[in-house]
Amino acid sequence: SLVRHYKFGVVLKNTTKLCSTKSVITINGKCPGPTLYAREEDTVIVRVTNHIKQNVTIHWHGIKQIRNGWSDGPAYVTQCPIQPGQSYIYNFTITGQRGTLLWHAHITWLRATVYGAIVILPKLGISYPFPKPDKEKIIILGEWWKSDVEAVLNQATKSGLAPNISDAHTINGHPGPVPGCTSQGYTLHVERGKTYLLRIVNAALNDELFFKIAGHELIVVEADASYVKPFKIDTIFLSPGQTTNVLLTANQGVGKYLIGVTPFMDAPIGFDNLTSFASLRYKGAPPYLKTTLTTIPPLNATPITSGFIDSLRSLNSKDYPARVPLTIDHSLFFAITVGLNPCNECTSGFKLVSAINNITFVLPTIASLLEAHYYNIKGVFTDDFPANPPIVFNYTGTQPANIQTNNGTKLYRLNFNSTVQIVLQGTAMIAPENHPFHLHGFNFFVVGQGLGNFDPDKDPLRFNLIDPVERNTIGVPNGGWAAIRFTADNPGVWFLHCHLEVHTTWGLKTAFLVDNGIGPNESSLPPPNDLPKC
Ligand code: C2O
Repeated sequence: SLVRHYKFGVVLKNTTKLCSTKSVITINGKCPGPTLYAREEDTVIVRVTNHIKQNVTIHWHGIKQIRNGWSDGPAYVTQCPIQPGQSYIYNFTITGQRGTLLWHAHITWLRATVYGAIVILPKLGISYPFPKPDKEKIIILGEWWKSDVEAVLNQATKSGLAPNISDAHTINGHPGPVPGCTSQGYTLHVERGKTYLLRIVNAALNDELFFKIAGHELIVVEADASYVKPFKIDTIFLSPGQTTNVLLTANQGVGKYLIGVTPFMDAPIGFDNLTSFASLRYKGAPPYLKTTLTTIPPLNATPITSGFIDSLRSLNSKDYPARVPLTIDHSLFFAITVGLNPCNECTSGFKLVSAINNITFVLPTIASLLEAHYYNIKGVFTDDFPANPPIVFNYTGTQPANIQTNNGTKLYRLNFNSTVQIVLQGTAMIAPENHPFHLHGFNFFVVGQGLGNFDPDKDPLRFNLIDPVERNTIGVPNGGWAAIRFTADNPGVWFLHCHLEVHTTWGLKTAFLVDNGIGPNESSLPPPNDLPKC
């Protein structure tokens, strides 16, 4: 195994997209930023230097960071931010995973322009469990606002209401054409007869996205850096934070084909419905389009999303067994709500808030949660996060009269090596929407999902405990539920949150405290000397 060194300079860069120019926060002047390449078992060392006037952290989304929360990155969860003029070295060894992941800033909304792909190749001499592709390509999807993203967030915070939606989706940094501005879209160049492994990443801030190439079938082989049983499909669905690897064979007539990226939004009205386009161009093809997209999934294409999600199964082979916990030590039921709290300083008089079991999570400011745990600093958090909602109601029916939530910095304590099941129940209050939940520090198995209220008597009987998909981010359906299981074999403090940045801002988050019981100092590796101070 190798040690791979990277230098990430956080710098402002004037960038022109959608016919307008603004100064954006980037890594090394690029958006998307550099791709991190490594092999399984390699050590990756990234020196991040902050050259801008605001705080920064970087998260390596999906990297398990065994005993090594100090390199995980979420601000105020595992570290204090890197302040202007300061550097911090992230240092992690990739253990037991290979595939595509992403890295991104993990503080306020900096992820809008500070993101990139992580490619983990199998160990030398180990091949993919699918036919070897001729070439590999990264396709990273994002969102672009013409205005300053921090200003969008500040405006929302001031009013207490929802932020403006983005002006376009981007494909490898290229926004699709929008009225009044013809921009050169991204072109995926292929040669007829060759097979390509597309590593597709959704790095968007707030949008779940469909990805489709006209006239071509895709074979899905991996999700969130876990191999899946290959299956054919024409439309891929990804929540922010999710990755999917597909095989694409250029087996159609030499030509140019449209690629479409369009959001999925099952919310009723007023949401983003912009499709962005790129093209697939065969070598020797004339510049005009051969095939356009005949069908683009409609905004509320729930059957396509659930069809896609249902098709994902762990490979579960001898080399890549699915180690699904069969018994459960901690059984949790998390009801996810979006509500309105009164707000004196907000111009609307109210504030959109989001909660798990009625707790709107508030991050600390004086120390990170992991430091507070490690150094036993009192008063930063409590470990009484509720395992169940305070009141049981029909989660997909009428909302209760009082939908105010309580602020709290409450963690849920898990015993080291215990097994955990969480039923994530989506509710249809105020802003009905899917919630892509992401867990740091672990992969989990998605043992079941469904629409309506979770039925604790009937639904577990249909759980897939053989080959459920293993991932780090799962879309909890609007008015439905998802059940996940994992083994808490990684000591530390691990964030769990909705990967729609707007919902994280509203408080849709909590953290697990995994303690081995010997004492806090045995839980994690010691903090590095350059760990930033708050
Ligand atoms: Cu990709 Cu906590 O995030």
